[in-house]
Amino acid sequence: KKLTLGKEDKNGIMVFDPAFMNTAVATSKITLVDGEKGELRYRGYKIEDLVENCSFLEVAYLLINGELPTNKQLNDWENKVMRHTYIHENLVEQMKTFRYDAHPMGMLISSVAALSTFYEEANPALKGPDLYRNQNLRNKQIFRILGKLPTIAACAYRHRIGRPYNSPVNHLNYTENFLYMMDRLSESDYRPHPRLAKALDICFILHADHEMNCSTAAMRHVGSSLVDPYTAVACAAGALYGPLHGGANEGVLHMLEEIKDVSNIPQFLKDVKAKKRKLMGFGHRIYKNYDPRATILKKVAADVFDLCGRTPLYEIAVELEAQALKDEYFVTRLLFPNVDFYSGLIYQAMGFPTDMFPVLFSIPRAAGWLAHWIEMLDDPSLKIFRPRQKYVGETDKEFVPLSERI
Ligand code: ACO
Repeated sequence: KKLTLGKEDKNGIMVFDPAFMNTAVATSKITLVDGEKGELRYRGYKIEDLVENCSFLEVAYLLINGELPTNKQLNDWENKVMRHTYIHENLVEQMKTFRYDAHPMGMLISSVAALSTFYEEANPALKGPDLYRNQNLRNKQIFRILGKLPTIAACAYRHRIGRPYNSPVNHLNYTENFLYMMDRLSESDYRPHPRLAKALDICFILHADHEMNCSTAAMRHVGSSLVDPYTAVACAAGALYGPLHGGANEGVLHMLEEIKDVSNIPQFLKDVKAKKRKLMGFGHRIYKNYDPRATILKKVAADVFDLCGRTPLYEIAVELEAQALKDEYFVTRLLFPNVDFYSGLIYQAMGFPTDMFPVLFSIPRAAGWLAHWIEMLDDPSLKIFRPRQKYVGETDKEFVPLSERI
């Protein structure tokens, strides 16, 4: 729908812009997406350089604090995040009351929201709207959220498979500890394979932020009411749970399973071109070039498959991409693989069930949500988000008492 202008009132001219297609709701210095060139930068740094040289927690520091950390700052940051990985025993007990087959994303969203009840000091509803002028207090909530999310995610996964929850261990790094909590079966000398931990760390960097996507916009929207950050993160995670946002990589897997064999690709592409279906993991609202995250993930996928063994789905994906990129339909519409084309394959090869995919997206995206939360709080022009509407309902109806309604 095209943007249209409405009547002018004391707030200026109202703009009718469904889905905010043409509306910028904030100025931001966090992430730059150049869709024409196919470039992604966090705080001015190219994503390729960050993936090559940094850990996820280092990138989280960059997103939230605005600059890359020194060695000392990074050590301090890592220690603080890792010191906050434990969750309160009552929350553990609470998580155990979910149904045996509860979706891990539902468990994550409600457990993060529940965190707000454990930290009264963090609640502006109780402590006053100026609470987050206190930098130390903000930072503490950031450490808690970054630290506890992987623990909650791992508990949700263990719950689903009917196994006891594992406690975090702080001698491992962020991603290693997460894999450890997911999989540890017996002794504490278990260590995930370093190449797998690195692959997951790269996936986390690539998913950490993507400017004003649906869940980040939700974080800012909810956060603008000055609610506590646990509730705001739970709301952002709720937005991410939707299949139009965090669920496309699962769609790619189903599509590849359905194609079943490389010999079926030409017929599948014919159906796509006849608009009978979509090529999942292709196309993007902003990227009109190869999504740089997909380029990186293609290499990560090759490495993970090298380690875990190739599956026919990987061969199908590579061939499907090759054929689509030679096809005029995709070339003229500037349709390229997006971040979801290879991420689901990687997660599946690493042994994650598909219902963990949105959870694996939420853990790193929390760094982006928190960076936007801080940027918003520091904006002196912050006001509560309150879009307008174009009322098209009836007016001036006569009231009919209940007893007279037919
Ligand atoms: N397969 C086939 N055709 C496609 C695809 C696709 N994946 N994506 C776009 N097209 C076609 C459209 O049919 C349209 O063709 P037309 O001009 O003949 O009508 C043209 O390309 C332009 O597409 P739009 O729908 O205008 O693109 P839009 O920006 O609205 O949609 C979207 C972007 C939703 C991502 C779309 O490309 C899509 O549905 N892709 C598949 C799902 C997917 O991979 N989503 C993940 C996105 S990344 C993320 O959210 C993390």
